[in-house]
Amino acid sequence: MNAAQSPSIAGQARPAGAVSAHQTPDPAKPARVPLLDVRDLHLQFQTRTGVARVLDGVSLHVDRGETLGIVGESGSGKSVLFLALLGILEANARVTAGSASFGGFDLLGSSEAERSSVRGRELAMVFQNPRAALNPIRRVGHQIEDVLLRHTATPRHALQARAIDALRRVQIADPEARYHAYPFELSGGQCQRVMIAMALACEPALLIADEPTTGLDVTTQAAIMALIARIARESGMATILVTHDLGLAGAHCDRIAVMHAGHLVETAPAAELFARPRHPYTARLLASTPYGARSIESLVSVPGQLPDLTRTDLSPCRFSERCDRVLPACAGALVTRDMGEGHHVACHNPC
Ligand SMILES: Nc1ncnc2c1ncn2[C@@H]1O[C@H](COP(=O)(O)OP(=O)(O)OP(=O)(O)O)[C@@H](O)[C@H]1O
Ligand SMILES: [Mg+2]
Repeated sequence: MNAAQSPSIAGQARPAGAVSAHQTPDPAKPARVPLLDVRDLHLQFQTRTGVARVLDGVSLHVDRGETLGIVGESGSGKSVLFLALLGILEANARVTAGSASFGGFDLLGSSEAERSSVRGRELAMVFQNPRAALNPIRRVGHQIEDVLLRHTATPRHALQARAIDALRRVQIADPEARYHAYPFELSGGQCQRVMIAMALACEPALLIADEPTTGLDVTTQAAIMALIARIARESGMATILVTHDLGLAGAHCDRIAVMHAGHLVETAPAAELFARPRHPYTARLLASTPYGARSIESLVSVPGQLPDLTRTDLSPCRFSERCDRVLPACAGALVTRDMGEGHHVACHNPC
């Protein structure tokens, strides 16, 4: 695909009539155009024990320059949501319904060639395990050059200087030397910075950072988060921060979306979510963290565990079996309610 054909996202108009599932249209105002607009996404995996319905009607949007946090327990579907949008899931995965528009580009309906031209260039992802995501037998500088070669018009003679610049930008010490390093010669924090350097090399409009600081010490964690925030501020980049750490999301995100067992159960501006969690799952999740609990003694765990997603008798609300606020109405279809002020909750009996 050449540059003229490439699905550039800059200034693309929103498809006519499209309204995010999390917005109430106001005919008096022109429709806001989200950068990423995902609607009613359903994803399943064929497994040995049956079909696992791991995403069940997920809708979300991200605006330009915005930072959205995605939080939820391990296994709630945070990573597969974005791997599905990028089209890089295993062969046993199938998107069975839904749509996803990235600045007007149809992420789910486009060919692999079109999608791969957007991936890594305007839509970049930092993967959950950076050491595994890097090629172990290729020098990190060359891996950054691969991205530049694929997605930019950088002439070959300028590649090395640009790769070293990319390493300098993420504040890797001695970038000229690190350019020649293999991933196994770098620390976890350095690998994370290399992954971020690769993701940012083409100045994407949206960075998806999946657990970018897990396994790092607190100081390195703070440095990586400050780095992403600085680059986002400088370039107007939108960021999706995927994390199981509510405190991290609260400190760095404008809005937070809470996932449970393949459902997006609550979305709200970060301060509002912490002050007034409305979904019983969010409330328990907050009470189970040192940030949300009033004292160490009041820390509680979320009762039960995620349901087996291959079950065919799952209730429309997948939290109902763990919920102490469950009502007979919870057996009815799950509806997302607009609580005002950008706060949405999928619950029949909100707190
Ligand atoms: N290739 C696969 N085949 C079958 N099931 C899968 C596959 N990949 C993921 N899953 C299932 O999809 C669900 C969501 O997984 P996902 O990795 O998105 O969770 P997560 O929220 O990112 O968790 P974590 O916080 O541990 O990273 C899980 O139940 C997982 O077992
Ligand atoms: Mg994950």
